[in-house]
Amino acid sequence: MLQLGIIGTSFISHEFIKAAKLSQKYSLRAVYSRTLTSAERFVQNYGPIAIYTEMVEFLSSDMDIVYIASPNSLHFNQAKVAILARKHVIIEKPAVSRPEEWQELVKLAEEHQVYLFEAARNYHEKAWEKIAAFLKNQTLLGAHFTYAKYSSKMPALLAGQEPNVFSAKYAGGALMDLGIYPIYAAIKLFGAPLEAHYQAQQLPNSIDLNGAGQLTYPGFQVHFQTGKNINSFLPAEIYTNQGTLSLNSIEEVGSAIFKDLDGQEKEIPLEPASHPMLEEARYFARVIEGKDPADYQEALTAASLVHQTLFKLRQDAGIHFEGDTDDHKR
Ligand SMILES: NC(=O)c1ccc[n+]([C@@H]2O[C@H](COP(=O)([O-])OP(=O)(O)OC[C@H]3O[C@@H](n4cnc5c(N)ncnc54)[C@H](OP(=O)(O)O)[C@@H]3O)[C@@H](O)[C@H]2O)c1
Repeated sequence: MLQLGIIGTSFISHEFIKAAKLSQKYSLRAVYSRTLTSAERFVQNYGPIAIYTEMVEFLSSDMDIVYIASPNSLHFNQAKVAILARKHVIIEKPAVSRPEEWQELVKLAEEHQVYLFEAARNYHEKAWEKIAAFLKNQTLLGAHFTYAKYSSKMPALLAGQEPNVFSAKYAGGALMDLGIYPIYAAIKLFGAPLEAHYQAQQLPNSIDLNGAGQLTYPGFQVHFQTGKNINSFLPAEIYTNQGTLSLNSIEEVGSAIFKDLDGQEKEIPLEPASHPMLEEARYFARVIEGKDPADYQEALTAASLVHQTLFKLRQDAGIHFEGDTDDHKR
Protein backbone atom coordinates (compact mmCIF):
# COMPACT_ATOMS: atom_id res chain seq x y z
CA MET A 1 0.00 0.00 0.00
CA LEU A 2 1.25 3.46 -0.91
CA GLN A 3 0.91 5.90 1.99
CA LEU A 4 -0.82 8.91 0.45
CA GLY A 5 -0.56 12.57 1.43
CA ILE A 6 -2.86 15.27 0.05
CA ILE A 7 -2.26 18.98 -0.58
CA GLY A 8 -5.46 20.98 -1.23
CA THR A 9 -8.84 20.32 0.29
CA SER A 10 -11.36 21.01 -2.47
CA PHE A 11 -13.72 18.49 -4.10
CA ILE A 12 -11.11 17.13 -6.52
CA SER A 13 -8.96 15.83 -3.65
CA HIS A 14 -11.99 13.91 -2.35
CA GLU A 15 -12.46 12.49 -5.86
CA PHE A 16 -8.85 11.38 -6.06
CA ILE A 17 -9.18 9.67 -2.68
CA LYS A 18 -12.25 7.81 -3.98
CA ALA A 19 -10.30 6.62 -7.05
CA ALA A 20 -7.26 5.74 -4.94
CA LYS A 21 -9.47 3.66 -2.67
CA LEU A 22 -11.09 1.87 -5.63
CA SER A 23 -7.62 0.97 -6.96
CA GLN A 24 -6.80 -0.73 -3.61
CA LYS A 25 -3.24 0.56 -3.93
CA TYR A 26 -3.23 3.57 -1.60
CA SER A 27 -3.91 4.29 2.02
CA LEU A 28 -4.72 7.90 3.00
CA ARG A 29 -2.15 8.98 5.55
CA ALA A 30 -1.86 12.76 5.81
CA VAL A 31 -3.46 16.01 4.68
CA TYR A 32 -1.93 19.47 4.38
CA SER A 33 -4.13 22.55 4.48
CA ARG A 34 -3.47 26.22 5.16
CA THR A 35 -5.93 26.09 8.02
CA LEU A 36 -6.71 23.58 10.73
CA THR A 37 -10.44 24.13 10.23
CA SER A 38 -10.47 23.10 6.57
CA ALA A 39 -8.08 20.19 7.26
CA GLU A 40 -10.40 18.91 10.03
CA ARG A 41 -13.46 19.34 7.80
CA PHE A 42 -11.70 17.53 4.96
CA VAL A 43 -10.72 14.43 6.95
CA GLN A 44 -13.92 14.09 8.99
CA ASN A 45 -15.17 11.08 6.99
CA TYR A 46 -11.85 9.29 6.64
CA GLY A 47 -11.10 8.19 10.20
CA PRO A 48 -7.86 9.10 12.00
CA ILE A 49 -5.74 10.92 9.40
CA ALA A 50 -2.76 13.12 10.33
CA ILE A 51 -3.36 16.78 9.50
CA TYR A 52 -0.75 19.49 9.02
CA THR A 53 -0.72 23.21 8.47
CA GLU A 54 3.09 23.35 8.15
CA MET A 55 4.44 22.04 4.83
CA VAL A 56 7.80 21.00 6.32
CA GLU A 57 6.13 18.84 8.98
CA PHE A 58 3.70 17.38 6.44
CA LEU A 59 6.56 16.39 4.12
CA SER A 60 8.63 14.93 6.97
CA SER A 61 5.77 12.63 7.88
CA ASP A 62 5.75 8.96 7.00
CA MET A 63 4.23 8.78 3.51
CA ASP A 64 5.29 7.67 0.04
CA ILE A 65 3.40 9.87 -2.37
CA VAL A 66 1.91 13.35 -2.40
CA TYR A 67 -1.11 14.36 -4.51
CA ILE A 68 -1.06 18.12 -5.19
CA ALA A 69 -4.40 19.78 -5.97
CA SER A 70 -3.76 23.44 -5.21
CA PRO A 71 -4.16 26.43 -7.58
CA ASN A 72 -2.02 25.92 -10.71
CA SER A 73 0.78 28.39 -10.07
CA LEU A 74 1.56 26.81 -6.67
CA HIS A 75 2.14 23.32 -8.12
CA PHE A 76 5.76 23.87 -9.16
CA ASN A 77 7.14 24.95 -5.78
CA GLN A 78 5.04 22.46 -3.84
CA ALA A 79 6.19 19.63 -6.13
CA LYS A 80 9.80 20.76 -5.76
CA VAL A 81 9.77 20.61 -1.97
CA ALA A 82 7.97 17.26 -2.03
CA ILE A 83 10.58 15.79 -4.39
CA LEU A 84 13.39 17.20 -2.22
CA ALA A 85 11.72 15.38 0.69
CA ARG A 86 11.96 12.21 -1.48
CA LYS A 87 8.25 11.69 -2.01
CA HIS A 88 6.72 10.56 -5.27
CA VAL A 89 4.54 13.34 -6.62
CA ILE A 90 1.23 13.44 -8.48
CA ILE A 91 0.42 16.97 -9.64
CA GLU A 92 -3.06 17.90 -10.80
CA LYS A 93 -3.25 19.18 -14.34
CA PRO A 94 -1.86 21.56 -15.46
CA ALA A 95 1.19 20.41 -13.48
CA VAL A 96 3.12 23.57 -14.31
CA SER A 97 2.53 27.05 -15.76
CA ARG A 98 5.59 27.09 -18.07
CA PRO A 99 7.29 24.22 -19.95
CA GLU A 100 10.73 24.72 -18.41
CA GLU A 101 9.24 24.07 -14.96
CA TRP A 102 8.24 20.58 -16.10
CA GLN A 103 11.79 19.89 -17.33
CA GLU A 104 13.17 21.04 -13.99
CA LEU A 105 10.82 18.76 -12.06
CA VAL A 106 11.65 15.78 -14.29
CA LYS A 107 15.37 16.32 -13.64
CA LEU A 108 14.87 16.82 -9.91
CA ALA A 109 12.71 13.68 -9.62
CA GLU A 110 15.34 11.65 -11.45
CA GLU A 111 18.10 12.98 -9.18
CA HIS A 112 16.09 12.15 -6.07
CA GLN A 113 14.92 8.77 -7.39
CA VAL A 114 11.23 9.45 -7.09
CA TYR A 115 8.45 9.35 -9.65
CA LEU A 116 6.72 12.43 -11.04
CA PHE A 117 3.22 12.29 -12.49
CA GLU A 118 0.80 14.78 -13.99
CA ALA A 119 -2.79 13.85 -13.14
CA ALA A 120 -3.99 14.19 -16.74
CA ARG A 121 -6.81 11.74 -16.27
CA ASN A 122 -7.90 11.41 -19.90
CA TYR A 123 -4.38 10.55 -21.07
CA HIS A 124 -4.50 7.36 -18.98
CA GLU A 125 -7.88 6.14 -20.23
CA LYS A 126 -7.57 2.71 -21.86
CA ALA A 127 -10.01 3.78 -24.60
CA TRP A 128 -7.17 5.56 -26.46
CA GLU A 129 -5.31 2.30 -27.10
CA LYS A 130 -8.35 0.85 -28.88
CA ILE A 131 -8.97 4.09 -30.77
CA ALA A 132 -5.32 4.32 -31.88
CA ALA A 133 -5.36 0.67 -33.01
CA PHE A 134 -8.58 1.28 -34.97
CA LEU A 135 -7.08 4.31 -36.74
CA LYS A 136 -3.72 2.67 -37.41
CA ASN A 137 -4.18 1.81 -41.11
CA GLN A 138 -6.26 4.86 -42.03
CA THR A 139 -5.10 8.19 -43.41
CA LEU A 140 -5.89 10.98 -40.97
CA LEU A 141 -7.59 14.02 -42.50
CA GLY A 142 -8.53 16.05 -39.42
CA ALA A 143 -10.17 16.11 -36.00
CA HIS A 144 -12.41 18.32 -33.90
CA PHE A 145 -12.10 18.14 -30.09
CA THR A 146 -14.16 20.15 -27.61
CA TYR A 147 -14.22 20.52 -23.85
CA ALA A 148 -16.19 23.48 -22.49
CA LYS A 149 -18.10 23.58 -19.24
CA TYR A 150 -19.79 26.50 -17.47
CA SER A 151 -17.77 27.03 -14.30
CA SER A 152 -19.28 27.03 -10.82
CA LYS A 153 -17.00 30.06 -10.27
CA MET A 154 -18.70 32.15 -13.00
CA PRO A 155 -21.19 33.82 -10.60
CA ALA A 156 -18.30 35.01 -8.42
CA LEU A 157 -16.46 36.31 -11.49
CA LEU A 158 -19.60 38.10 -12.71
CA ALA A 159 -20.01 39.60 -9.23
CA GLY A 160 -16.61 41.26 -9.60
CA GLN A 161 -14.47 38.77 -7.67
CA GLU A 162 -11.43 37.00 -9.07
CA PRO A 163 -11.65 33.25 -8.34
CA ASN A 164 -8.29 31.40 -8.63
CA VAL A 165 -9.37 29.71 -11.83
CA PHE A 166 -9.75 33.10 -13.57
CA SER A 167 -6.66 34.64 -12.05
CA ALA A 168 -3.35 35.49 -13.75
CA LYS A 169 -1.65 35.10 -10.37
CA TYR A 170 -2.76 31.46 -10.15
CA ALA A 171 -2.25 30.62 -13.87
CA GLY A 172 -5.96 30.14 -14.52
CA GLY A 173 -8.15 30.25 -17.61
CA ALA A 174 -10.08 27.95 -19.91
CA LEU A 175 -7.05 26.69 -21.82
CA MET A 176 -5.11 25.68 -18.71
CA ASP A 177 -8.15 24.24 -16.93
CA LEU A 178 -10.09 22.45 -19.70
CA GLY A 179 -8.23 23.08 -22.97
CA ILE A 180 -5.47 20.83 -21.65
CA TYR A 181 -7.77 17.79 -22.16
CA PRO A 182 -8.11 18.16 -25.96
CA ILE A 183 -4.38 18.92 -26.15
CA TYR A 184 -3.60 15.73 -24.23
CA ALA A 185 -5.98 13.75 -26.49
CA ALA A 186 -4.32 15.12 -29.64
CA ILE A 187 -0.80 14.44 -28.36
CA LYS A 188 -1.79 10.95 -27.19
CA LEU A 189 -3.18 10.06 -30.63
CA PHE A 190 -1.07 12.11 -33.02
CA GLY A 191 2.11 13.19 -31.17
CA ALA A 192 3.75 16.63 -31.29
CA PRO A 193 2.02 19.24 -33.45
CA LEU A 194 4.09 21.23 -35.92
CA GLU A 195 2.27 24.47 -35.09
CA ALA A 196 -0.26 25.62 -32.50
CA HIS A 197 -2.63 28.61 -32.63
CA TYR A 198 -5.32 29.88 -30.26
CA GLN A 199 -7.74 32.81 -30.19
CA ALA A 200 -9.80 33.55 -27.12
CA GLN A 201 -12.33 35.76 -25.42
CA GLN A 202 -10.21 37.27 -22.65
CA LEU A 203 -10.67 39.13 -19.38
CA PRO A 204 -8.81 42.42 -18.77
CA ASN A 205 -6.14 40.38 -16.92
CA SER A 206 -5.59 38.46 -20.23
CA ILE A 207 -7.08 35.22 -18.86
CA ASP A 208 -9.24 33.33 -21.37
CA LEU A 209 -12.93 32.60 -20.78
CA ASN A 210 -13.33 30.52 -23.94
CA GLY A 211 -11.48 30.05 -27.17
CA ALA A 212 -10.79 28.00 -30.26
CA GLY A 213 -7.49 26.77 -31.59
CA GLN A 214 -5.74 24.72 -34.16
CA LEU A 215 -2.91 22.20 -33.98
CA THR A 216 -1.17 21.51 -37.29
CA TYR A 217 0.07 18.01 -38.10
CA PRO A 218 1.64 16.77 -41.32
CA GLY A 219 -1.32 16.52 -43.71
CA PHE A 220 -4.10 17.44 -41.28
CA GLN A 221 -5.32 19.84 -38.57
CA VAL A 222 -6.87 19.31 -35.16
CA HIS A 223 -9.36 22.05 -34.28
CA PHE A 224 -10.25 22.40 -30.64
CA GLN A 225 -12.61 24.49 -28.56
CA THR A 226 -12.64 25.11 -24.85
CA GLY A 227 -14.43 27.38 -22.41
CA LYS A 228 -15.49 28.07 -18.86
CA ASN A 229 -18.29 30.55 -19.54
CA ILE A 230 -20.10 28.25 -22.01
CA ASN A 231 -21.29 24.66 -22.14
CA SER A 232 -20.56 22.50 -25.16
CA PHE A 233 -22.33 19.23 -25.84
CA LEU A 234 -20.49 18.44 -29.07
CA PRO A 235 -18.97 15.02 -29.50
CA ALA A 236 -15.38 14.67 -30.72
CA GLU A 237 -14.79 13.69 -34.34
CA ILE A 238 -11.78 12.23 -36.14
CA TYR A 239 -11.88 12.29 -39.96
CA THR A 240 -10.04 9.72 -42.07
CA ASN A 241 -9.95 8.60 -45.71
CA GLN A 242 -12.42 5.84 -44.76
CA GLY A 243 -14.99 7.75 -42.69
CA THR A 244 -15.60 9.57 -39.39
CA LEU A 245 -14.99 8.33 -35.88
CA SER A 246 -17.28 10.00 -33.29
CA LEU A 247 -16.40 9.90 -29.60
CA ASN A 248 -18.83 11.02 -26.92
CA SER A 249 -16.02 13.17 -25.50
CA ILE A 250 -12.23 13.46 -25.23
CA GLU A 251 -12.42 12.68 -21.51
CA GLU A 252 -14.42 9.88 -19.92
CA VAL A 253 -14.49 8.32 -23.39
CA GLY A 254 -17.32 5.79 -23.25
CA SER A 255 -18.48 5.50 -26.83
CA ALA A 256 -16.66 5.40 -30.18
CA ILE A 257 -18.71 4.93 -33.36
CA PHE A 258 -17.20 4.86 -36.82
CA LYS A 259 -19.36 5.77 -39.81
CA ASP A 260 -17.74 4.78 -43.11
CA LEU A 261 -18.12 6.69 -46.37
CA ASP A 262 -21.19 4.58 -47.27
CA GLY A 263 -22.84 5.44 -43.95
CA GLN A 264 -22.29 2.00 -42.39
CA GLU A 265 -21.74 2.20 -38.61
CA LYS A 266 -19.34 0.19 -36.51
CA GLU A 267 -18.90 0.54 -32.75
CA ILE A 268 -15.53 0.14 -31.05
CA PRO A 269 -16.31 -1.61 -27.76
CA LEU A 270 -14.98 0.39 -24.81
CA GLU A 271 -15.01 -0.35 -21.10
CA PRO A 272 -14.76 2.95 -19.20
CA ALA A 273 -13.60 2.72 -15.59
CA SER A 274 -16.08 3.13 -12.74
CA HIS A 275 -14.44 6.44 -11.72
CA PRO A 276 -12.82 9.00 -14.08
CA MET A 277 -9.62 9.08 -12.01
CA LEU A 278 -9.30 5.33 -11.46
CA GLU A 279 -7.16 4.49 -14.49
CA GLU A 280 -4.61 7.18 -13.66
CA ALA A 281 -4.53 6.12 -9.99
CA ARG A 282 -3.83 2.52 -11.08
CA TYR A 283 -1.18 3.70 -13.52
CA PHE A 284 0.72 5.74 -10.89
CA ALA A 285 0.80 2.73 -8.56
CA ARG A 286 1.91 0.39 -11.37
CA VAL A 287 4.83 2.65 -12.23
CA ILE A 288 5.92 2.87 -8.59
CA GLU A 289 5.76 -0.93 -8.39
CA GLY A 290 8.29 -0.90 -11.27
CA LYS A 291 5.87 -2.41 -13.78
CA ASP A 292 5.64 0.28 -16.44
CA PRO A 293 9.03 1.94 -17.11
CA ALA A 294 8.36 2.51 -20.84
CA ASP A 295 4.90 3.98 -20.21
CA TYR A 296 6.40 6.25 -17.58
CA GLN A 297 8.95 7.74 -19.98
CA GLU A 298 6.22 8.13 -22.60
CA ALA A 299 3.97 9.97 -20.14
CA LEU A 300 6.81 12.32 -19.10
CA THR A 301 7.46 13.12 -22.76
CA ALA A 302 3.76 13.60 -23.50
CA ALA A 303 3.49 16.01 -20.55
CA SER A 304 6.49 17.92 -21.83
CA LEU A 305 4.90 18.25 -25.29
CA VAL A 306 1.58 19.28 -23.74
CA HIS A 307 3.24 22.04 -21.71
CA GLN A 308 5.23 23.28 -24.70
CA THR A 309 2.00 23.35 -26.73
CA LEU A 310 -0.03 25.08 -24.00
CA PHE A 311 2.69 27.69 -23.76
CA LYS A 312 2.69 28.31 -27.53
CA LEU A 313 -1.11 28.60 -27.48
CA ARG A 314 -1.23 31.12 -24.69
CA GLN A 315 1.62 33.11 -26.24
CA ASP A 316 -0.36 33.17 -29.48
CA ALA A 317 -3.45 34.50 -27.70
CA GLY A 318 -1.49 36.88 -25.44
CA ILE A 319 -2.40 35.15 -22.16
CA HIS A 320 0.10 36.15 -19.50
CA PHE A 321 0.56 34.85 -15.96
CA GLU A 322 2.05 36.82 -13.10
CA GLY A 323 5.08 34.52 -12.92
CA ASP A 324 5.95 35.02 -16.62
CA THR A 325 9.15 36.92 -17.35
CA ASP A 326 9.57 39.38 -20.25
CA ASP A 327 11.13 36.51 -22.23
CA HIS A 328 7.94 34.49 -21.84
CA LYS A 329 5.90 37.38 -23.22
CA ARG A 330 7.85 37.63 -26.51
N1 LIG B 1 -8.64 16.24 -12.67
C1 LIG B 1 -9.75 16.92 -12.60
O1 LIG B 1 -10.81 16.48 -13.06
C2 LIG B 1 -9.74 18.26 -11.92
C3 LIG B 1 -10.94 18.86 -11.56
C4 LIG B 1 -10.89 20.07 -10.88
C5 LIG B 1 -9.67 20.67 -10.59
N2 LIG B 1 -8.53 20.07 -11.00
C6 LIG B 1 -7.22 20.69 -10.71
O2 LIG B 1 -7.03 20.67 -9.31
C7 LIG B 1 -6.33 21.84 -8.89
C8 LIG B 1 -7.13 22.54 -7.83
O3 LIG B 1 -8.30 23.07 -8.43
P1 LIG B 1 -9.49 23.69 -7.54
O4 LIG B 1 -10.48 24.23 -8.46
O5 LIG B 1 -9.86 22.72 -6.49
O6 LIG B 1 -8.67 24.91 -6.90
P2 LIG B 1 -9.01 25.83 -5.65
O7 LIG B 1 -10.36 25.48 -5.12
O8 LIG B 1 -8.74 27.22 -6.04
O9 LIG B 1 -7.90 25.40 -4.59
C9 LIG B 1 -7.70 24.07 -4.20
C10 LIG B 1 -7.16 24.03 -2.78
O10 LIG B 1 -5.94 24.73 -2.71
C11 LIG B 1 -5.89 25.52 -1.52
N3 LIG B 1 -5.82 26.94 -1.91
C12 LIG B 1 -6.81 27.69 -2.45
N4 LIG B 1 -6.39 28.95 -2.65
C13 LIG B 1 -5.13 29.00 -2.23
C14 LIG B 1 -4.16 30.03 -2.16
N5 LIG B 1 -4.44 31.27 -2.56
N6 LIG B 1 -2.95 29.72 -1.66
C15 LIG B 1 -2.66 28.47 -1.23
N7 LIG B 1 -3.54 27.45 -1.26
C16 LIG B 1 -4.75 27.71 -1.76
C17 LIG B 1 -7.18 25.26 -0.76
O11 LIG B 1 -6.91 24.27 0.22
P3 LIG B 1 -6.68 24.72 1.76
O12 LIG B 1 -7.63 25.85 2.02
O13 LIG B 1 -7.02 23.50 2.50
O14 LIG B 1 -5.25 25.11 1.89
C18 LIG B 1 -8.11 24.70 -1.79
O15 LIG B 1 -8.99 23.74 -1.29
C19 LIG B 1 -6.11 22.68 -10.15
O16 LIG B 1 -4.82 22.45 -10.63
C20 LIG B 1 -7.15 22.16 -11.12
O17 LIG B 1 -6.76 22.30 -12.47
C21 LIG B 1 -8.54 18.87 -11.63
